[in-house]
Amino acid sequence: MSFANDRPSTFPSASVEVHGGFDRDDWASGYFNVEQELNDVALRPLRGKLPAELCGSLYRNGPARFERGGQSLHHPFDGDGMITALHFSKGEVLLSNRFVRTEGWLEEEEAGRYLYRGVFGTQKPGGVFANIFDVRFKNIANTHVVRLGDQLLALWEAAGPHALDPVSLETHGLSSLNGVLKPGEAFSAHPRFDPGHHGEPCMVTFGVKTGPTSKIRLMEFATQGPDAGRLISDRSDSFSGFAFLHDFAITPNWAVFLQNAIDFKPLPFLLGQKGAAQCLTSKPGARAKFWLIPRNSGAFAGQSPRILDAPDGFVFHHLNAWEEGDEVVVESIYYRDYPSIEPDQDFLSMDFDLIPEGQLTRCRINLLGKGIETKRFGDRCCEFAMVNPRRQGLSARYSWMAVAERETGYAPLQGIKKLDLINGDKCLWSAAPRGFVGEPFMVPRPGSDAEDDGWVLVQAWNGASCATELVILNADDLSEQAVLEMPTPIPYGLHASWVAAD
Ligand code: CO
Repeated sequence: MSFANDRPSTFPSASVEVHGGFDRDDWASGYFNVEQELNDVALRPLRGKLPAELCGSLYRNGPARFERGGQSLHHPFDGDGMITALHFSKGEVLLSNRFVRTEGWLEEEEAGRYLYRGVFGTQKPGGVFANIFDVRFKNIANTHVVRLGDQLLALWEAAGPHALDPVSLETHGLSSLNGVLKPGEAFSAHPRFDPGHHGEPCMVTFGVKTGPTSKIRLMEFATQGPDAGRLISDRSDSFSGFAFLHDFAITPNWAVFLQNAIDFKPLPFLLGQKGAAQCLTSKPGARAKFWLIPRNSGAFAGQSPRILDAPDGFVFHHLNAWEEGDEVVVESIYYRDYPSIEPDQDFLSMDFDLIPEGQLTRCRINLLGKGIETKRFGDRCCEFAMVNPRRQGLSARYSWMAVAERETGYAPLQGIKKLDLINGDKCLWSAAPRGFVGEPFMVPRPGSDAEDDGWVLVQAWNGASCATELVILNADDLSEQAVLEMPTPIPYGLHASWVAAD
């Protein structure tokens, strides 16, 4: 099922380092500056046929600027965000891509060099003395992109959203969401879309202000009709301790947060030696906690949050959560430790063997305080897992995720796995040895109730042709439905969302 093998290589690398079945140069070649911004250019069909019922837009955000003025980024997460839109209609796919015109991006374009430090360790040119006590951040708007009302929002969790035009991708600027957000207020890059099993469909999201205590603002926005974009629920809660909260999960009654057992020691950041995210360290002896905040639309509205012990380890992303009797069940991708890249190495030269692998783990949290039961789903390294969006917040049978080719240990993501969360059955599609993938997005077939009926849209970097491909898999068995080549190479992206055609 490999897509890279059956075409001649146009990018033979001079020194092929085989590491767990992939070529490191192929992997590294997927990080590059995007120089071209296109408007509605058709993808070139390579194989298969586009499903006629697949109509809508896939929006993906991701860093697309990795070098400026001869300086390379220390970590890809420090790269400026670019939106790639794929519009599916009438049997073809059109691509538009555009950098988010953040204030920092515009200043640095003008200057031709980096003017801001990156959270993940990129420093300004000029060494420690150019960076010391400079705690200004550039809102790089690079993590996620979602549609809310008539706006597209480019998200970056440490500051506010940028509003864009959903068709032209033109940046309108930072948005307060009609006065909901204060200037500079943090707004998560991981909203969850409640399909409305127990109320109206809505977007649930949060902002966190952390330090010795952490304050979480939980917000819900209408997503339907003329009210779309209106704030319909708002509550704030304080918790003791530092929290790094990249993602959360929802059920009809709860918003589920995991406070990882890590600490923030900002001195090396203030002294200009490290990026802020490099100052996160494991906190030996500390317990991770689940923070469950009652949703205002649910049965526990107005009550205090529940705080319960959580297993050791580190989590960026959750898959899903649901309720079962006295239990809240949450599935997350666990790492045994926080994966940091130290100041003396850049990400392209990192030692994969030192990076912990992500493993999907289910935690059953007993709300009556009777403890937690955990179950791990296999050893294979995975990330970016999702369920059918209609099952968000309910128990789901199936999940789709990006996985490594090797069965144990850390390695770049090269395949897609469909996992049956009930009986453990799985099927795999692989782009190895020369292809690499990002987050898969599952689009349900319109009008179908079968949970695994639909398609999985995958953005894949083909190290052999140095091109980015859109791979469309059938969601039930991961058979290849179609493969199309993008008209310009697009680097590895981060999170995507789907907007069905009206
Ligand atoms: Co994320």
